[in-house]
Amino acid sequence: MKRSKRFEVLEKRPINLDGFSEEWAEVGLIAMESEYDPEPSIEIQSGVVMEMDGKRREAFDSIDLFIADYGINLDNAEAAMKTDTLQIARMLVDVNVSRDEILKITTAITPAKITKVMSHLNVVEIMMAQMKMRARRRPSNQAHITNLEDNPVLMAADAAEAALRGFSEIETTTAVSRYAPFNALALLVGGLCGKRRILSQCSLEEALELKMGMKGLTSYAETVSVYGTEAVMTDGDDTPWSKGFLASIYASRGMKMRFTSGTGAEVLMGNTEKKSMLYLEARCLFLTKGCGVQGTQNGSVSCIGIPGAVPGGFRVIAAENLMASMLNLEVASGNDQTFTHSDMRRMSKVFMQLLPGTDFISSGYSAMPNYDDMFAGSNTDCDDYDDWYILQRDMRVDGGILPIREEDAIGIRNKGAKALQAVFQYFDLPEITEAEVEEATYAYSSYDMPKRNMVEDLKAAERFLAGNTGFDVAKALWEKGFQDVSENVLDMLKQRITGDYLHTAAIFDEEFKLESALNDPNLYEGPGTGYQISEERWSKMIQKENILGPSAL
Ligand code: 5AD
Ligand code: CA
Repeated sequence: MKRSKRFEVLEKRPINLDGFSEEWAEVGLIAMESEYDPEPSIEIQSGVVMEMDGKRREAFDSIDLFIADYGINLDNAEAAMKTDTLQIARMLVDVNVSRDEILKITTAITPAKITKVMSHLNVVEIMMAQMKMRARRRPSNQAHITNLEDNPVLMAADAAEAALRGFSEIETTTAVSRYAPFNALALLVGGLCGKRRILSQCSLEEALELKMGMKGLTSYAETVSVYGTEAVMTDGDDTPWSKGFLASIYASRGMKMRFTSGTGAEVLMGNTEKKSMLYLEARCLFLTKGCGVQGTQNGSVSCIGIPGAVPGGFRVIAAENLMASMLNLEVASGNDQTFTHSDMRRMSKVFMQLLPGTDFISSGYSAMPNYDDMFAGSNTDCDDYDDWYILQRDMRVDGGILPIREEDAIGIRNKGAKALQAVFQYFDLPEITEAEVEEATYAYSSYDMPKRNMVEDLKAAERFLAGNTGFDVAKALWEKGFQDVSENVLDMLKQRITGDYLHTAAIFDEEFKLESALNDPNLYEGPGTGYQISEERWSKMIQKENILGPSAL
């Protein structure tokens, strides 16, 4: 066939490097509204759910049973289940109906029912509803801090810069898992070297992650995964009860925690029971609710390649974020995984959460270039900062971060690296040299860093974890002359005893004041209500050195 030159050019556009799939309901490759999804139903006898979504209690699997016994507010269930799904959908977009009024219904219905509600909403309506249903008044953002070499000095500097940019949470994981204690330490010291405020986590195998949290080296946990079919839960050696138990242990030690779930996981793990991705995610969210967890990281997360490949993919991802908010859960809304070659598609995806605002718009913005992102690359990385800032400015929306000056970034990176150097000295860990501090201060990526002796580091990391806690880190900083950083670390540890940041959607603001769904809830009820960007914050959002004004003449 003689080729059209236009089609030949189109074929080479980045979008055509992406992978797409037809719907295939039998293997669960369908976003929502599968013909195999159950019809909503509930039957309650003496406070016990005897039937849910067309299944009798005798036929319940462990997830059904857990949801039926703990996940649904049964007091209001019969009335809520009688409310028409279209009516619930309309209430969601009606500014005259308050969030509280909707929560009474949405926390008292079944997974099949909430899935049906979503099928009435188009993407703009989903965003309108998200703006109202988000738990915390002010939206915020979360960053990934990792690198290919697990270089702790660079990690401390990157954590310091991320805190300065305004991320509320930072998280790391490892390239080599035995490095974990140093990665956690680097985020603790680097993240708190400027201000007391930021929460940090280290995503790992569950026992080690919990241990580091209990020792005060991290302050939250997020990648506690749940899945929508029993076969997939069991594949991960888990049950709803084991996850609930883990959640209580975190809470008992004053650590913030949320579960992770998201569309596509069950497809990837090969057992969907022919259900749509959204229905399975609804099960995950009711399960999360039943465990008493305050929030979720969802929106497909690492599995975005799957819903992203089928028709209605972005719609379903926005819908699952909204569902989390409809259950009064904090939502860290994905946008944390590379999935497309097209910049247009990449930012269109972000807009669905950035424009309405979610509790964490990105549940992992890569604070480094993506090749250093050990969570397998994020949707946006450090090269995208200025685009993100200008889009905030163009739209007058708060994406959770603020522009910073180069000299301030250099200053805080240097302080983070130096503070970690001092801590390493105090604990007699392998030396952090002046040259490493200098490189970390000015680095673009791990390629700029001198190589460390990995064998020595790994041995020392294990020794450090065995003997020390976050309190010892505060002591080390004090003795080494970093009294201000020491106080920041100590003040964050004290927060665990107060327990205030265990409340839904809790973060700290720049003045170390807590903002959560309890003391600063989202009360959006139409134009002029809800979150308003302060004049002070707006003046920072529009700063940019290359912007012309009268003074340039
Ligand atoms: N479902 C469940 N857990 C997920 N994670 C990422 N995506 C999903 C999903 N769709 C969790 C996994 C992973 C971590 C980065 O987040 O635990 O290891
Ligand atoms: Ca995350």
